[in-house]
Amino acid sequence: MTGQSALAPNYHPLDVVLVSGEGSWVTDVDGRRYLDCLAGYSALNFGHRHPALVAAAQEQLDTLTLTSRAFRHDLLEPFARAVTSLTGTEMLLPMNTGAEAVETAVKTSRRWGYDVKGVPDGTASIVVASGGFHGRTTTIVSMSDDPEMHDGFGPYTPGFRIVPFGDADAVAEAVDDTTVAVLVEPVQGESGVIIPPTDYLPRLRQLCDERDVLLVLDEVQSGLGRTGTTLAQDLAGVRADLTTLGKALGGGILPVSAVVGRRDVLGVLTPGTHGSTFGGNPLACAVGIAVVDLLVPGTLQARAATLGAELRTRVDALVDEGLLASARTVGLWAGLDVEPSLGLSGRETCELLATHGVLAKDTHGSTIRLAPPLTIEREDLDLALDILTKVLRDRRGAVGA
Ligand SMILES: Cc1ncc(COP(=O)(O)O)c(C=O)c1O
Repeated sequence: MTGQSALAPNYHPLDVVLVSGEGSWVTDVDGRRYLDCLAGYSALNFGHRHPALVAAAQEQLDTLTLTSRAFRHDLLEPFARAVTSLTGTEMLLPMNTGAEAVETAVKTSRRWGYDVKGVPDGTASIVVASGGFHGRTTTIVSMSDDPEMHDGFGPYTPGFRIVPFGDADAVAEAVDDTTVAVLVEPVQGESGVIIPPTDYLPRLRQLCDERDVLLVLDEVQSGLGRTGTTLAQDLAGVRADLTTLGKALGGGILPVSAVVGRRDVLGVLTPGTHGSTFGGNPLACAVGIAVVDLLVPGTLQARAATLGAELRTRVDALVDEGLLASARTVGLWAGLDVEPSLGLSGRETCELLATHGVLAKDTHGSTIRLAPPLTIEREDLDLALDILTKVLRDRRGAVGA
Protein backbone atom coordinates (compact mmCIF):
# COMPACT_ATOMS: atom_id res chain seq x y z
CA MET A 1 0.00 0.00 0.00
CA THR A 2 1.29 3.49 -0.79
CA GLY A 3 0.67 6.67 1.16
CA GLN A 4 -0.89 7.02 4.58
CA SER A 5 -3.54 4.62 5.78
CA ALA A 6 -7.09 5.93 5.79
CA LEU A 7 -7.88 3.58 8.67
CA ALA A 8 -7.97 4.73 12.32
CA PRO A 9 -5.14 3.04 14.24
CA ASN A 10 -7.21 1.46 17.03
CA TYR A 11 -6.07 -2.09 16.17
CA HIS A 12 -2.71 -3.76 15.65
CA PRO A 13 -3.62 -6.78 13.52
CA LEU A 14 -1.26 -9.55 12.51
CA ASP A 15 0.21 -8.81 9.13
CA VAL A 16 -2.00 -11.08 7.05
CA VAL A 17 -4.52 -9.84 4.50
CA LEU A 18 -7.33 -12.34 4.20
CA VAL A 19 -9.59 -12.66 1.21
CA SER A 20 -11.59 -15.84 1.71
CA GLY A 21 -12.56 -18.44 4.26
CA GLU A 22 -14.15 -21.84 4.39
CA GLY A 23 -14.69 -23.87 7.53
CA SER A 24 -11.61 -23.52 9.72
CA TRP A 25 -9.39 -22.28 6.92
CA VAL A 26 -8.77 -18.80 5.55
CA THR A 27 -6.72 -17.70 2.55
CA ASP A 28 -4.70 -14.51 2.12
CA VAL A 29 -4.12 -12.27 -0.91
CA ASP A 30 -1.11 -14.35 -1.91
CA GLY A 31 -3.03 -17.61 -1.79
CA ARG A 32 -1.49 -18.77 1.51
CA ARG A 33 -3.81 -20.80 3.71
CA TYR A 34 -4.08 -20.51 7.47
CA LEU A 35 -5.95 -22.40 10.14
CA ASP A 36 -8.13 -19.89 11.94
CA CYS A 37 -7.62 -20.66 15.61
CA LEU A 38 -9.18 -17.43 16.82
CA ALA A 39 -12.47 -17.82 14.96
CA GLY A 40 -13.42 -14.15 15.28
CA TYR A 41 -13.11 -14.32 19.09
CA SER A 42 -15.71 -17.12 18.95
CA ALA A 43 -18.00 -15.29 16.52
CA LEU A 44 -17.05 -18.03 14.04
CA ASN A 45 -17.89 -20.96 16.28
CA PHE A 46 -19.39 -22.71 13.25
CA GLY A 47 -16.47 -21.86 10.96
CA HIS A 48 -16.38 -19.57 7.98
CA ARG A 49 -19.42 -19.60 5.72
CA HIS A 50 -21.19 -22.54 7.30
CA PRO A 51 -23.51 -23.75 4.50
CA ALA A 52 -26.66 -23.76 6.65
CA LEU A 53 -26.00 -20.24 7.87
CA VAL A 54 -25.11 -18.88 4.44
CA ALA A 55 -28.26 -20.49 3.00
CA ALA A 56 -30.44 -18.93 5.71
CA ALA A 57 -28.88 -15.51 5.07
CA GLN A 58 -29.18 -15.79 1.31
CA GLU A 59 -32.81 -16.84 1.48
CA GLN A 60 -33.61 -13.95 3.77
CA LEU A 61 -31.74 -11.47 1.56
CA ASP A 62 -34.26 -12.32 -1.12
CA THR A 63 -37.30 -11.68 1.05
CA LEU A 64 -36.96 -9.01 3.77
CA THR A 65 -33.89 -7.57 5.49
CA LEU A 66 -34.99 -4.70 7.71
CA THR A 67 -38.22 -3.38 9.16
CA SER A 68 -37.00 -1.50 12.23
CA ARG A 69 -38.98 -2.25 15.35
CA ALA A 70 -41.66 0.19 14.25
CA PHE A 71 -43.29 -2.79 12.55
CA ARG A 72 -43.50 -6.47 13.36
CA HIS A 73 -41.94 -9.09 11.12
CA ASP A 74 -42.50 -12.80 10.85
CA LEU A 75 -39.14 -14.00 12.26
CA LEU A 76 -38.80 -11.94 15.42
CA GLU A 77 -41.00 -14.03 17.69
CA PRO A 78 -39.63 -17.34 16.28
CA PHE A 79 -36.09 -16.04 16.91
CA ALA A 80 -36.95 -15.11 20.50
CA ARG A 81 -38.62 -18.48 21.05
CA ALA A 82 -35.69 -20.37 19.55
CA VAL A 83 -33.01 -18.66 21.65
CA THR A 84 -34.98 -18.73 24.90
CA SER A 85 -35.83 -22.38 24.40
CA LEU A 86 -32.18 -23.24 23.68
CA THR A 87 -30.97 -21.36 26.75
CA GLY A 88 -33.74 -22.26 29.19
CA THR A 89 -34.79 -18.65 29.59
CA GLU A 90 -38.10 -16.83 29.35
CA MET A 91 -37.64 -13.69 27.32
CA LEU A 92 -35.23 -12.13 24.82
CA LEU A 93 -34.33 -8.57 23.90
CA PRO A 94 -32.48 -8.39 20.57
CA MET A 95 -29.56 -6.07 19.90
CA ASN A 96 -26.58 -6.16 17.52
CA THR A 97 -23.16 -6.05 19.12
CA GLY A 98 -21.97 -7.60 22.36
CA ALA A 99 -21.42 -4.19 23.91
CA GLU A 100 -25.03 -3.26 23.21
CA ALA A 101 -26.22 -6.43 24.89
CA VAL A 102 -24.16 -5.57 27.97
CA GLU A 103 -25.46 -1.98 27.92
CA THR A 104 -28.96 -3.41 27.74
CA ALA A 105 -28.27 -5.65 30.74
CA VAL A 106 -26.92 -2.69 32.71
CA LYS A 107 -29.91 -0.50 31.89
CA THR A 108 -32.39 -3.31 32.59
CA SER A 109 -30.74 -4.08 35.94
CA ARG A 110 -30.87 -0.44 36.97
CA ARG A 111 -34.50 -0.09 35.93
CA TRP A 112 -35.35 -3.30 37.80
CA GLY A 113 -33.51 -1.96 40.83
CA TYR A 114 -35.53 1.24 40.88
CA ASP A 115 -38.91 -0.17 39.90
CA VAL A 116 -38.89 -3.54 41.67
CA LYS A 117 -36.21 -3.62 44.36
CA GLY A 118 -36.89 -0.06 45.46
CA VAL A 119 -33.37 1.33 45.23
CA PRO A 120 -33.46 5.16 45.52
CA ASP A 121 -33.36 6.72 42.05
CA GLY A 122 -29.89 7.41 40.70
CA THR A 123 -28.00 5.37 43.32
CA ALA A 124 -27.88 1.86 41.77
CA SER A 125 -24.59 0.00 42.00
CA ILE A 126 -23.38 -2.99 40.01
CA VAL A 127 -20.56 -5.26 41.17
CA VAL A 128 -18.18 -6.30 38.39
CA ALA A 129 -14.91 -8.22 38.23
CA SER A 130 -11.37 -7.02 37.85
CA GLY A 131 -9.91 -8.03 34.49
CA GLY A 132 -13.37 -8.31 32.96
CA PHE A 133 -14.05 -7.38 29.37
CA HIS A 134 -17.52 -6.39 28.27
CA GLY A 135 -17.00 -4.09 25.31
CA ARG A 136 -15.92 -0.57 24.52
CA THR A 137 -18.73 1.90 25.16
CA THR A 138 -18.18 4.73 27.63
CA THR A 139 -20.30 3.02 30.28
CA ILE A 140 -18.61 -0.33 29.75
CA VAL A 141 -15.06 1.02 29.90
CA SER A 142 -16.15 2.62 33.18
CA MET A 143 -16.33 -0.91 34.62
CA SER A 144 -12.89 -1.89 33.31
CA ASP A 145 -9.68 -1.71 35.30
CA ASP A 146 -7.50 -2.29 32.26
CA PRO A 147 -5.68 1.04 31.75
CA GLU A 148 -5.47 0.56 27.97
CA MET A 149 -9.24 0.22 27.62
CA HIS A 150 -10.17 2.61 30.39
CA ASP A 151 -7.79 5.54 30.66
CA GLY A 152 -8.31 8.77 28.78
CA PHE A 153 -12.02 8.32 28.11
CA GLY A 154 -13.55 10.00 31.16
CA PRO A 155 -15.74 11.28 32.58
CA TYR A 156 -16.83 7.77 33.45
CA THR A 157 -20.24 6.32 34.23
CA PRO A 158 -20.54 5.92 37.99
CA GLY A 159 -22.15 3.00 39.79
CA PHE A 160 -19.67 0.15 39.32
CA ARG A 161 -17.66 -1.61 42.02
CA ILE A 162 -14.75 -3.69 40.80
CA VAL A 163 -13.72 -6.71 42.91
CA PRO A 164 -11.24 -9.54 42.19
CA PHE A 165 -12.51 -12.15 39.71
CA GLY A 166 -13.28 -15.56 41.18
CA ASP A 167 -13.65 -14.19 44.72
CA ALA A 168 -17.24 -14.68 45.89
CA ASP A 169 -16.41 -13.29 49.35
CA ALA A 170 -15.29 -10.03 47.76
CA VAL A 171 -18.58 -9.84 45.88
CA ALA A 172 -20.49 -10.45 49.12
CA GLU A 173 -18.61 -7.59 50.76
CA ALA A 174 -19.23 -5.22 47.86
CA VAL A 175 -22.98 -5.85 47.71
CA ASP A 176 -25.14 -3.42 49.69
CA ASP A 177 -28.71 -2.12 49.60
CA THR A 178 -28.03 -0.13 46.43
CA THR A 179 -26.74 -3.14 44.51
CA VAL A 180 -28.94 -4.17 41.62
CA ALA A 181 -26.66 -6.66 39.87
CA VAL A 182 -23.50 -8.71 39.91
CA LEU A 183 -22.20 -8.75 36.33
CA VAL A 184 -19.32 -11.04 35.39
CA GLU A 185 -18.11 -13.34 32.63
CA PRO A 186 -18.38 -17.02 33.62
CA VAL A 187 -14.92 -17.41 32.07
CA GLN A 188 -12.89 -14.29 31.36
CA GLY A 189 -12.06 -14.47 27.68
CA GLU A 190 -10.09 -11.35 26.84
CA SER A 191 -8.12 -11.69 30.07
CA GLY A 192 -6.71 -15.00 28.78
CA VAL A 193 -9.36 -17.65 29.42
CA ILE A 194 -9.38 -17.21 33.18
CA ILE A 195 -11.49 -19.92 34.80
CA PRO A 196 -12.92 -19.16 38.25
CA PRO A 197 -13.12 -21.71 41.12
CA THR A 198 -15.91 -24.24 40.52
CA ASP A 199 -17.99 -22.89 43.40
CA TYR A 200 -17.77 -19.27 42.19
CA LEU A 201 -20.94 -19.08 40.08
CA PRO A 202 -23.03 -21.25 42.46
CA ARG A 203 -21.95 -18.99 45.33
CA LEU A 204 -22.79 -15.86 43.33
CA ARG A 205 -26.18 -17.38 42.50
CA GLN A 206 -26.89 -18.03 46.17
CA LEU A 207 -25.65 -14.62 47.23
CA CYS A 208 -27.76 -12.85 44.62
CA ASP A 209 -30.83 -14.82 45.72
CA GLU A 210 -30.23 -13.98 49.37
CA ARG A 211 -29.55 -10.28 48.78
CA ASP A 212 -32.20 -9.62 46.11
CA VAL A 213 -29.62 -8.83 43.45
CA LEU A 214 -29.65 -9.86 39.80
CA LEU A 215 -27.00 -12.26 38.56
CA VAL A 216 -25.97 -11.11 35.09
CA LEU A 217 -23.59 -13.33 33.16
CA ASP A 218 -21.86 -12.01 30.07
CA GLU A 219 -21.69 -14.97 27.70
CA VAL A 220 -20.98 -12.94 24.58
CA GLN A 221 -17.74 -14.89 24.14
CA SER A 222 -18.23 -17.97 26.33
CA GLY A 223 -21.74 -18.81 25.17
CA LEU A 224 -23.16 -20.95 22.37
CA GLY A 225 -21.01 -24.05 22.52
CA ARG A 226 -17.49 -22.83 23.18
CA THR A 227 -17.18 -24.44 26.60
CA GLY A 228 -18.58 -27.81 25.56
CA THR A 229 -22.00 -26.78 26.84
CA THR A 230 -24.59 -24.44 25.34
CA LEU A 231 -23.73 -21.80 27.93
CA ALA A 232 -20.65 -21.67 30.14
CA GLN A 233 -22.96 -21.27 33.15
CA ASP A 234 -24.32 -24.77 32.39
CA LEU A 235 -21.00 -26.15 33.62
CA ALA A 236 -21.71 -24.66 37.03
CA GLY A 237 -25.37 -25.66 36.99
CA VAL A 238 -26.61 -22.10 37.46
CA ARG A 239 -29.03 -19.97 35.49
CA ALA A 240 -28.42 -16.23 35.50
CA ASP A 241 -31.27 -13.75 35.76
CA LEU A 242 -29.93 -12.08 32.64
CA THR A 243 -27.45 -13.51 30.15
CA THR A 244 -25.85 -11.58 27.33
CA LEU A 245 -25.21 -13.36 24.05
CA GLY A 246 -23.48 -12.11 20.91
CA LYS A 247 -20.67 -13.08 18.59
CA ALA A 248 -21.62 -16.65 17.53
CA LEU A 249 -25.31 -15.72 17.57
CA GLY A 250 -24.66 -14.00 14.24
CA GLY A 251 -22.93 -17.09 12.83
CA GLY A 252 -19.92 -15.03 11.74
CA ILE A 253 -22.15 -13.39 9.13
CA LEU A 254 -23.51 -10.29 10.83
CA PRO A 255 -23.63 -8.80 14.31
CA VAL A 256 -26.45 -10.32 16.33
CA SER A 257 -26.69 -10.03 20.10
CA ALA A 258 -29.34 -10.43 22.74
CA VAL A 259 -30.12 -10.38 26.40
CA VAL A 260 -32.06 -13.41 27.55
CA GLY A 261 -33.46 -13.95 30.99
CA ARG A 262 -36.34 -13.71 33.38
CA ARG A 263 -39.66 -12.40 32.13
CA ASP A 264 -40.21 -10.32 35.28
CA VAL A 265 -36.80 -8.67 34.84
CA LEU A 266 -36.76 -7.90 31.10
CA GLY A 267 -40.43 -7.06 31.52
CA VAL A 268 -39.56 -3.85 33.37
CA LEU A 269 -38.69 -2.25 30.03
CA THR A 270 -41.75 -0.59 28.52
CA PRO A 271 -42.19 0.72 24.96
CA GLY A 272 -39.84 3.61 24.31
CA THR A 273 -37.45 2.92 27.19
CA HIS A 274 -34.86 1.04 25.13
CA GLY A 275 -34.27 -0.08 21.56
CA SER A 276 -32.18 -0.30 18.43
CA THR A 277 -33.00 0.31 14.76
CA PHE A 278 -31.24 -2.87 13.68
CA GLY A 279 -31.81 -5.08 16.74
CA GLY A 280 -33.81 -8.15 15.78
CA ASN A 281 -33.89 -7.34 12.07
CA PRO A 282 -35.19 -10.10 9.76
CA LEU A 283 -31.74 -10.97 8.39
CA ALA A 284 -30.31 -11.24 11.91
CA CYS A 285 -33.25 -13.36 13.03
CA ALA A 286 -32.94 -15.71 10.05
CA VAL A 287 -29.26 -16.30 10.79
CA GLY A 288 -29.87 -16.47 14.54
CA ILE A 289 -32.55 -19.13 14.11
CA ALA A 290 -30.19 -21.13 11.88
CA VAL A 291 -27.50 -20.82 14.56
CA VAL A 292 -29.90 -22.17 17.18
CA ASP A 293 -30.83 -25.03 14.82
CA LEU A 294 -27.14 -25.98 14.70
CA LEU A 295 -26.96 -26.04 18.49
CA VAL A 296 -30.25 -27.76 19.34
CA PRO A 297 -28.99 -31.33 18.75
CA GLY A 298 -26.06 -30.76 21.15
CA THR A 299 -23.56 -32.43 18.85
CA LEU A 300 -21.43 -29.32 18.42
CA GLN A 301 -21.28 -28.77 22.16
CA ALA A 302 -20.27 -32.43 22.59
CA ARG A 303 -17.68 -31.99 19.88
CA ALA A 304 -16.25 -28.97 21.68
CA ALA A 305 -16.01 -31.05 24.84
CA THR A 306 -14.36 -34.02 23.10
CA LEU A 307 -11.90 -31.98 21.06
CA GLY A 308 -11.38 -29.81 24.13
CA ALA A 309 -10.22 -32.84 26.11
CA GLU A 310 -7.63 -33.51 23.40
CA LEU A 311 -6.62 -29.86 23.39
CA ARG A 312 -6.12 -30.05 27.13
CA THR A 313 -3.94 -33.17 26.90
CA ARG A 314 -1.77 -31.56 24.24
CA VAL A 315 -1.27 -28.23 26.01
CA ASP A 316 -0.68 -29.93 29.36
CA ALA A 317 2.14 -31.82 27.64
CA LEU A 318 3.61 -28.48 26.56
CA VAL A 319 3.53 -27.34 30.18
CA ASP A 320 5.27 -30.58 31.23
CA GLU A 321 7.86 -30.01 28.52
CA GLY A 322 8.58 -26.54 29.93
CA LEU A 323 7.41 -24.72 26.79
CA LEU A 324 4.37 -23.20 28.45
CA ALA A 325 4.39 -21.74 31.96
CA SER A 326 0.72 -22.58 32.34
CA ALA A 327 -2.33 -23.53 30.33
CA ARG A 328 -6.01 -23.05 31.05
CA THR A 329 -8.65 -24.78 28.99
CA VAL A 330 -12.39 -25.12 29.08
CA GLY A 331 -14.12 -26.80 26.18
CA LEU A 332 -12.43 -25.87 22.94
CA TRP A 333 -10.89 -22.74 24.39
CA ALA A 334 -7.38 -22.27 25.72
CA GLY A 335 -5.33 -19.52 27.33
CA LEU A 336 -1.65 -20.39 27.12
CA ASP A 337 1.17 -18.58 28.92
CA VAL A 338 4.43 -18.96 27.03
CA GLU A 339 7.33 -19.96 29.29
CA PRO A 340 9.16 -16.68 30.09
CA SER A 341 12.65 -18.17 29.51
CA LEU A 342 11.73 -18.52 25.82
CA GLY A 343 11.69 -14.72 25.68
CA LEU A 344 8.66 -14.62 23.41
CA SER A 345 5.80 -12.21 23.84
CA GLY A 346 2.32 -13.42 22.98
CA ARG A 347 2.43 -11.19 19.95
CA GLU A 348 5.73 -12.68 18.73
CA THR A 349 4.38 -16.17 19.30
CA CYS A 350 1.33 -15.36 17.18
CA GLU A 351 3.54 -13.88 14.46
CA LEU A 352 5.60 -17.07 14.39
CA LEU A 353 2.45 -19.18 14.32
CA ALA A 354 1.15 -17.13 11.39
CA THR A 355 4.33 -17.70 9.39
CA HIS A 356 3.64 -21.42 9.88
CA GLY A 357 -0.02 -21.12 8.87
CA VAL A 358 -1.88 -20.82 12.18
CA LEU A 359 -3.78 -17.70 13.24
CA ALA A 360 -4.18 -17.07 16.97
CA LYS A 361 -4.39 -13.98 19.15
CA ASP A 362 -2.20 -12.75 21.94
CA THR A 363 -3.52 -11.09 25.04
CA HIS A 364 -1.76 -9.49 28.00
CA GLY A 365 1.99 -10.05 27.71
CA SER A 366 2.98 -13.61 26.91
CA THR A 367 -0.48 -15.17 26.75
CA ILE A 368 -2.04 -16.53 23.58
CA ARG A 369 -5.59 -17.64 23.05
CA LEU A 370 -6.82 -20.55 20.99
CA ALA A 371 -10.50 -20.71 20.08
CA PRO A 372 -10.82 -22.62 16.82
CA PRO A 373 -14.23 -23.19 15.24
CA LEU A 374 -16.19 -25.93 17.01
CA THR A 375 -16.44 -27.54 13.60
CA ILE A 376 -12.66 -27.91 13.21
CA GLU A 377 -11.53 -31.31 11.95
CA ARG A 378 -9.59 -33.34 14.50
CA GLU A 379 -6.57 -33.52 12.14
CA ASP A 380 -6.61 -29.75 11.74
CA LEU A 381 -6.62 -29.22 15.49
CA ASP A 382 -3.72 -31.65 15.72
CA LEU A 383 -1.92 -29.78 12.96
CA ALA A 384 -2.35 -26.46 14.77
CA LEU A 385 -0.99 -27.97 17.98
CA ASP A 386 1.89 -29.62 16.11
CA ILE A 387 2.79 -26.21 14.70
CA LEU A 388 2.55 -24.56 18.12
CA THR A 389 4.81 -27.26 19.54
CA LYS A 390 7.33 -26.80 16.73
CA VAL A 391 7.37 -23.01 17.09
CA LEU A 392 8.02 -23.25 20.84
CA ARG A 393 10.62 -26.04 20.52
CA ASP A 394 12.46 -24.17 17.75
CA ARG A 395 12.52 -21.12 19.94
CA ARG A 396 13.90 -23.08 22.86
CA GLY A 397 16.59 -24.48 20.56
CA ALA A 398 17.43 -20.96 19.35
CA VAL A 399 17.74 -19.38 22.79
CA GLY A 400 19.15 -22.48 24.50
CA ALA A 401 16.57 -22.14 27.29
C1 LIG B 1 -17.44 -11.15 27.21
C2 LIG B 1 -17.60 -10.09 26.17
N1 LIG B 1 -18.59 -9.20 26.28
C3 LIG B 1 -18.79 -8.25 25.37
C4 LIG B 1 -17.96 -8.12 24.29
C5 LIG B 1 -18.19 -7.02 23.30
O1 LIG B 1 -18.69 -7.51 22.11
P1 LIG B 1 -18.66 -6.59 20.79
O2 LIG B 1 -17.23 -6.45 20.37
O3 LIG B 1 -19.51 -7.33 19.80
O4 LIG B 1 -19.26 -5.27 21.17
C6 LIG B 1 -16.91 -9.03 24.12
C7 LIG B 1 -16.00 -8.93 22.96
O5 LIG B 1 -14.94 -9.50 22.92
C8 LIG B 1 -16.73 -10.03 25.09
O6 LIG B 1 -15.73 -10.91 24.99
